[in-house]
Amino acid sequence: MSEATQPGRTLRFEIFRWDASRPEVEPRMESFELEETPYMTLFLALNRIRESQAPSLQFDFACRSAVCGSCGMMVNGRPVLGCQTLTANLPEVIRLHPLPGFELIGDLSVDTGRWFRGMAEQVEAWVHEREPFDPEAPEQPMDDDLARALYEGERCIECGCCVAGCGVANTNPHFVGPAGLNRIKRFMMDPRDERSEDDWFDVVAGEDGVFGCVGLMACQDVCPKDLPLLEVYAYLRRRALLQGARRPGELLQITGTTSRDGG
Ligand code: SF4
Ligand code: SF4
Ligand code: FES
Repeated sequence: MSEATQPGRTLRFEIFRWDASRPEVEPRMESFELEETPYMTLFLALNRIRESQAPSLQFDFACRSAVCGSCGMMVNGRPVLGCQTLTANLPEVIRLHPLPGFELIGDLSVDTGRWFRGMAEQVEAWVHEREPFDPEAPEQPMDDDLARALYEGERCIECGCCVAGCGVANTNPHFVGPAGLNRIKRFMMDPRDERSEDDWFDVVAGEDGVFGCVGLMACQDVCPKDLPLLEVYAYLRRRALLQGARRPGELLQITGTTSRDGG
């Protein structure tokens, strides 16, 4: 475990700059120096830089406690949450870029909300009930283990780090991404969601779903909430393969193989 600070360090921040309101100015890197202080996070460092050196610097933070998911950024090439990253765990030169895979707003700020909304619409991330809602009906208890498993999927804070770290998500804008696959599993497991296996097959199978994933697990490595994404993909592949066995021609056409089960 690193010390919370390494006394006496002067940090050099190299920060990506781009201002949407000044399109004539090319994107560029700008350098800033800052004295490191005890327990300094990137949130604190960026605020100090903005207060004292770069008032126009754009970046996003809200909760400062790894809950809201707004502060994802590339730090020396790795997607992380800025609010939970101590500078003491970084070298003296810290390069900051916005997360790739999302619409750039300016500097380090990206529009993850638009991406996550698009993904949610693509996978229809809501409970599909066939019967109309009956407010008079008694509540149905849920098994504790199942409730815990659903909650596990709900721990995603939509920070976008996994998407930024995923080569497939960065090259195929229709790929639902690691967060999308996690979302699919969450609803697939929900007994209140009455989508059929056929409905799910159309969402999950194929190059925009779990068979688009090449399984190198960059997403799980960078997820700040340690979501077990490997297990998610194994589950989805199993379900898709079982259903695909009933639709073999389609499965072979989609995957080119049936031997990728288990991620
Ligand atoms: S394992 Fe799949 S979803 Fe995760 S980063 Fe690799 S390609 Fe993307
Ligand atoms: S799965 Fe993890 S890395 Fe991806 S958006 Fe959710 S919390 Fe962030
Ligand atoms: S500021 Fe909310 S997760 Fe970092």
